[in-house]
Amino acid sequence: MLKLTDNFGRSIHDLRISITDRCNYRCVYCRTGTNGAAYAELPFDDYLRMARILVGLGITKIRLTGGEPLLRKGIVEFVRDLAKLRTLDGKKPEIALTTNGHLLAEIAQPLKDAGLDRVTVSMDAVDPERFARITRVPNGYDSVLAGVRASRQAGLDPVKINCVLLRGFNEDQIIPFGMFTREERVVVRFIEFMPLEEDRVWTPEIVVRLDEIVERMSEYLPLEEMTHEHSETARRYRFSDGVGEIGIIAPVSHPFCGHCSRIRITSDGKLRTCLFSAWDHDLHELMQRGATDEKLTEFIVKVVEKKEERHHIGEPGFVPASRTMVHIGG
Ligand code: GTP
Ligand code: 5AD
Ligand code: SF4
Repeated sequence: MLKLTDNFGRSIHDLRISITDRCNYRCVYCRTGTNGAAYAELPFDDYLRMARILVGLGITKIRLTGGEPLLRKGIVEFVRDLAKLRTLDGKKPEIALTTNGHLLAEIAQPLKDAGLDRVTVSMDAVDPERFARITRVPNGYDSVLAGVRASRQAGLDPVKINCVLLRGFNEDQIIPFGMFTREERVVVRFIEFMPLEEDRVWTPEIVVRLDEIVERMSEYLPLEEMTHEHSETARRYRFSDGVGEIGIIAPVSHPFCGHCSRIRITSDGKLRTCLFSAWDHDLHELMQRGATDEKLTEFIVKVVEKKEERHHIGEPGFVPASRTMVHIGG
């Protein structure tokens, strides 16, 4: 049985599909605020064919990303179709979604009913005014909070929150998020800021690192480290009374490339082997030229073999990725 493996021996079993690079937010650490969508969107059937072939090559988890994926009409039906795929073990693939949560409240239950397992909501502050300053959209906080609560109610489990910390901007939100995980029963994950933004504002100093996050949070309540999956991006912590969970995704201070299990499809149907790839590989063009499943499989296997060993954030001569985060999907 052919399973995707790269030349460094890493098994590739997580697929992330960006279904649009449009976004209704303009987060300061991501977009310039003026640039819009840059790449095409494909019909869902095209992503579905790609996903089917990749699931046949050992993918077990599919995460839908954007831009903001809930801006696309037809996402519920797409999830329903993905849920009909079967992994090499004969199981339904795990299906997850990363969203800014703005449109989530209404659609959480239909998505769950269609076969969505989990959701991750991006929230960079738990205070409405600060939230608006970061997203540059007024009154978003209440909609997102409603989306988080509706997701829990719908049985999406776990609900995870992603918070990108920027020094001088929202690092004072660490303890409020500690309270939030306990009150809302969601997993809160802090992400170290990576140089993937449109405005090129990244500096090593702006990154709030894992050690500092643990130290700050411990001023509120002490954290205990938990075990985590081999290929998981986050280090996991709980409070000693077992209420609440914190994750820290630390690609800058503690890179996890050696355990990377991910491949990405962009909204316009290109394969990306790394967030920091200097180029992508045009799977969609091959499909449009009438390639058979066998030809597409051959192409995917070859592309995956050449996956980059690691990123080079913070090293001299670092070359920015060929796309910024909003056009990759996280
Ligand atoms: P789960 O563990 O299933 O929840 O998936 P995940 O950890 O991939 O979740 P999510 O999609 O929320 O990713 C969280 C964030 O981690 C992303 O938005 C990125 O900022 C970062 N991240 C995810 N994958 C990678 C990766 O391969 N490399 C790097 N450097 N960062 C990543
Ligand atoms: N560094 C780290 N995380 C980022 N995200 C967006 N841009 C960056 C960046 N430069 C996060 C978003 C969202 C996810 C898709 O990636 O907050 O949660
Ligand atoms: Fe994988 Fe690239 Fe992310 Fe490293 S930076 S974990 S190699 S996608």
